[in-house]
Amino acid sequence: MASTTRLPAILQAVMKGQPQALRDDHYPAWHLAPVTGLLNDPNGFIHFQGRYHLFYQWNPLGCEHKYKCWGHWSSADLVQWRHEPIALMPDEEYDRNGCYSGSAVDNQGKLTLCYTGNVKFDDGGRTAWQCLAVQNAEGGFDKRGPVVPLPGGYTGHVRDPKVWRHEHHWYMVLGAQDLELQGKVLLLRSENLWNWQSLGEIAGSGLNGIGDAGYMWECPDLFALGGKTFLICCPQGVEREEKRFLNAHPSAYLSGEFDYARASFQHGPLNEIDAGFEFYAPQTTLTADGRRLLVGWMGVPDGEEMHQPTTAYGWIHQMTCVRELSEQNGKLYQQPVRELQALRGEEERYQGNAAAAPALNAQRLELELESAGDVTLNFADTLLVEWRRDALRLARRSLQTGEWLYRYWQGDAHKLQILCDSSSVEIFINEGEGVMSSRYFPTQPAQLTFSGSAELRARYWSLRPCM
Ligand code: FRU
Repeated sequence: MASTTRLPAILQAVMKGQPQALRDDHYPAWHLAPVTGLLNDPNGFIHFQGRYHLFYQWNPLGCEHKYKCWGHWSSADLVQWRHEPIALMPDEEYDRNGCYSGSAVDNQGKLTLCYTGNVKFDDGGRTAWQCLAVQNAEGGFDKRGPVVPLPGGYTGHVRDPKVWRHEHHWYMVLGAQDLELQGKVLLLRSENLWNWQSLGEIAGSGLNGIGDAGYMWECPDLFALGGKTFLICCPQGVEREEKRFLNAHPSAYLSGEFDYARASFQHGPLNEIDAGFEFYAPQTTLTADGRRLLVGWMGVPDGEEMHQPTTAYGWIHQMTCVRELSEQNGKLYQQPVRELQALRGEEERYQGNAAAAPALNAQRLELELESAGDVTLNFADTLLVEWRRDALRLARRSLQTGEWLYRYWQGDAHKLQILCDSSSVEIFINEGEGVMSSRYFPTQPAQLTFSGSAELRARYWSLRPCM
């Protein structure tokens, strides 16, 4: 039986922290965020016995990347979420430095979690175990211990099991770093979730025509969609381009053909999933009606994060909205999941010159905009969306230095759908061809104003809070 010595401290942190977090104007009204402490990756996203479950990396004890538990929410409709008891705490030898990211599967009616037990040594080294935990009759999770030890040929950075069923087997992808310090994705196969056989590397830095692409690939997720197979991954250390891969920790996807018999993946180049300032470690799942959903961490583990002003209220980071994926010409498209339309209030409209558009309250707002370009959206002088005929530029001041920083989406952007919630903006370009997700921290009420010479057609809704 796992020890639970930290439980009183967590309980106190939550009782003290939640009222404080809710007093923060930056706290989201309809996105998932931690009641207190730090949230990072979505984990174990699954539709199981009529409910959606979303677990998450959570440090309930502070705003630093320490003491990673699995928090747990569930929902019947992807809109209204309820808290569930903490699913996993790092209280065994094999996960003592964190119950790191992973996934959930339905194993013959048993909700089963696959996660990484992270272990650090005093000399700076580390190891990792891929572990299982199975839901018990009370709804809690019983740890069943490691099922995959650290494979030979890799450093201690092997983690983030994403497990799925295909025909008669279970498959697992893992993020890994080889001994040459190249990021890789490993594939494993099992008949029973307990005994795993390695099928080798299926993608990574230096493989399948990909050049030098980073020292570690985190959080892989492989799935079929439309006529293609997609591999999502987070390649750390990919070289920055002039206008792409500008986050030190980017999220990317490969699109191609996967052959189960040969365990081989033929794919094209790395593409950005989201070109905004904050997006990382997304995970997907399937709905009962076969839709592929994605949710991401609206955060990145970089030097700016600890300067986010929400830490003064004892919390940091949030999830993206749930998104629905589709494939078009081999590309991954993302749109807000249709269930979110339930949050819309009355529809309002504007048509005319962008400069004459009314100012809007961006605290909880959804916008659908059409224009041929030259429109600038100004969110409380803190975040600017500069929409031109052939590109989109997002500008935000550095939280550390105050200088303007930029992110780009290149292409003919004719339609934007923008979802706003307190301190976040998600911009869906051309029905989901591109997405830019970013946090911003206005000091005055979040007002959105428009400028520019172009004709603008807008439909917009105020969104109702639901958390
Ligand atoms: C990605 C990540 C994962 C790891 C987890 C730890 O953000 O670094 O690779 O499992 O976060 O919280």
